[in-house]
Amino acid sequence: MERLRITKVLETAPSEEKLTVCGWVRTFRNDRFLAVNDGSTLRNLQLVVQKEDFDDDVLKQLNTGAAIRAAGVLVESQGGGQTVELQVEALEVLGGANPDEFPIQMKKHSLEFLREKAHLRFRTSTFGAVFRIRHLLQFSIHQFFHDKGFFQLHTPIITGMDAEGAGEMFKVTTLDLENVPKTEDGTTDFSQDFFGTQSNLTVSGQLEAELAAMALGQVYTFGPTFRAENSNTSRHLAEFWMIEPEMAFADLKDDMKLAEDCLKFVLAYVLKHGEEDLKFLENRELQAEKQLPQNDRNEYSLCDRLRNVVDSEFAHMTYTEVIAALRNSKPFKKKKFKYPCEWGDDLHSEHERWLVEKHVGGPVIVTDYPSEIKAFYMRANDDGKTVAAMDVLVPGIGELIGGSQREERLDVLKKKCADFNIPEDHVWWYLETRKFGSAKHCGFGMGFERLVMYCTGMSNIRDVIPFPRTPLSAEF
Ligand code: 4AD
Ligand code: MG
Repeated sequence: MERLRITKVLETAPSEEKLTVCGWVRTFRNDRFLAVNDGSTLRNLQLVVQKEDFDDDVLKQLNTGAAIRAAGVLVESQGGGQTVELQVEALEVLGGANPDEFPIQMKKHSLEFLREKAHLRFRTSTFGAVFRIRHLLQFSIHQFFHDKGFFQLHTPIITGMDAEGAGEMFKVTTLDLENVPKTEDGTTDFSQDFFGTQSNLTVSGQLEAELAAMALGQVYTFGPTFRAENSNTSRHLAEFWMIEPEMAFADLKDDMKLAEDCLKFVLAYVLKHGEEDLKFLENRELQAEKQLPQNDRNEYSLCDRLRNVVDSEFAHMTYTEVIAALRNSKPFKKKKFKYPCEWGDDLHSEHERWLVEKHVGGPVIVTDYPSEIKAFYMRANDDGKTVAAMDVLVPGIGELIGGSQREERLDVLKKKCADFNIPEDHVWWYLETRKFGSAKHCGFGMGFERLVMYCTGMSNIRDVIPFPRTPLSAEF
C-alpha cells in the first residue's frame, strides 16, 4: 500500500479505505495515543493503538524518536486537537530509539544544546518549521527572478579573485603543507599549485555575474560564499548563501526597486504558503522573549512585522543623513555607542540597529556611502567622495542587502583599481567588459541566512542553516 505523507492525511476525509503512514514517534501517551511526525508538516498525526492487538515487544519500542510504519483507517477524532486520527491495524517499528540515549526528548531543549546535536535537531518542531520556511524562501526567490526574466547563473566557487577586497578568504590548495615549494624570494611558489596560481573560495559571485549580465541582460546567482572573517557574532557565518542579481541598463534607483520588490515578494510568499510554520515560530519567539527585558522584545509579532514590510514603502536616507541622525541620537550623546560615527566611518551593527529599530521603525535603504569604505567596483558619484551604493537595513538584523551601481567607465575603474591596489592583470577580463560595449548596470547581494532569520524570528544565524560553519566549528 502506498504511503501517504501526513500533510495529505490531515486533509483527507475519514473513510473505510486503509491508509499507510511512516514517521517518527513524538510521544506515546496512555499506552494508546501515538503522535507521529513525518516532517511534511508541523502537525503530528494521532495514531490510536489498541494495546491488545500488538505484541508487548512492539509496544515497548514506541519511544520518542523511533521510526514506524503504520496502516489503518482514518476516523473522525474523538479527542480535541485534531479532526482525524488513524485507527491502527498494522504497526511496524522500523528503527527504535533507546530512550536512555536519544537526546531529543519531548522537553524543552535550549537552542545551544540543539546546536551540539545538529544531526538530530531537525526532529524538533522548531527546526522542522525553520527548514520548511527556508525551503519556501529559496523557492520564492527563484520564482521572483524567473518571473522578472532573470536567468540563474552558476558562478564558480573556486576563484583567484577577492571580489570584496577584504582579504577574508579561505585558500584552496593541493600543495603539501609540510613541504611548501618556495620561489627564489622565499614566498610560496603557487605556480606549482593545482591551478598554477593562488586560489581561494569565493566571497561573492558578483564579478562573474556582471560579465554575464553584459550579455544576458539580467542574471542572478544563488550559491554558497565563504568568508574567513573571525567574527563570532549571531549574524556571521564562514559559509553562507547569497543571492546576487545583476542587471544591465539599470541604475541605483532600479537596483533599490528590485531589492524592495524582491523582499516584499518573498515575504508575501511565505506569509501565504508557510502560515502554519510562521504562526508556530511567532509563538516560539513570544515565549523566548519572555526572558528578555521589555526593551529588547519586539513591538510587533512576527507575522505582523512581515506583513508591515510587505505593505509599507521602504524609507530612504543617504549615508550623510544617517551620520547626522546618529550624532543627534540619545545613545550617541550618552556615549552608548561602542564605535565612532564620524563622517567616513563604517556603520556598525549598533548604528544600523538604532537606525532601523529606534529612528525609522522599519526597513531603510541607505545610499551614497564614502568610497573608501566600499568595494572598488562601485560607481563614483559626481561629488568625488561617495559611491552609488545602497544597503538595505532591517530591524533585528541590520544589513540584509548590500548593492550598488557598478563603475562602467573604463578610465574611472582603472583609477579605482590603482587606488585599491588591484593589479590590472588580475582583473583584465572584468576591465574588458568596460572596453567592449560597456553600459551602466547594477546589482546587489542578499544574505540568504539573514533573510531566513528575518522571516523566522530566530535570533542566531547558526539556527537557520543546517550545519553552521563558524570559527573553530565545522562539525557534521
Ligand atoms: O555586503 P556584501 O559583502 O556584498 C557583496 O558581497 C556584494 N558582492 C554583493 C553584490 O553587490 N552582488 O554581502 C552581501 C550580503 C550582506 O548584506 C549580508 O546580508 C550577507 O551578504 N553577508 C553575510 N551573511 C552571513 N555571514 C556573513 N559573514 C556575511 N557577510 C555578508
Ligand atoms: Mg555589505
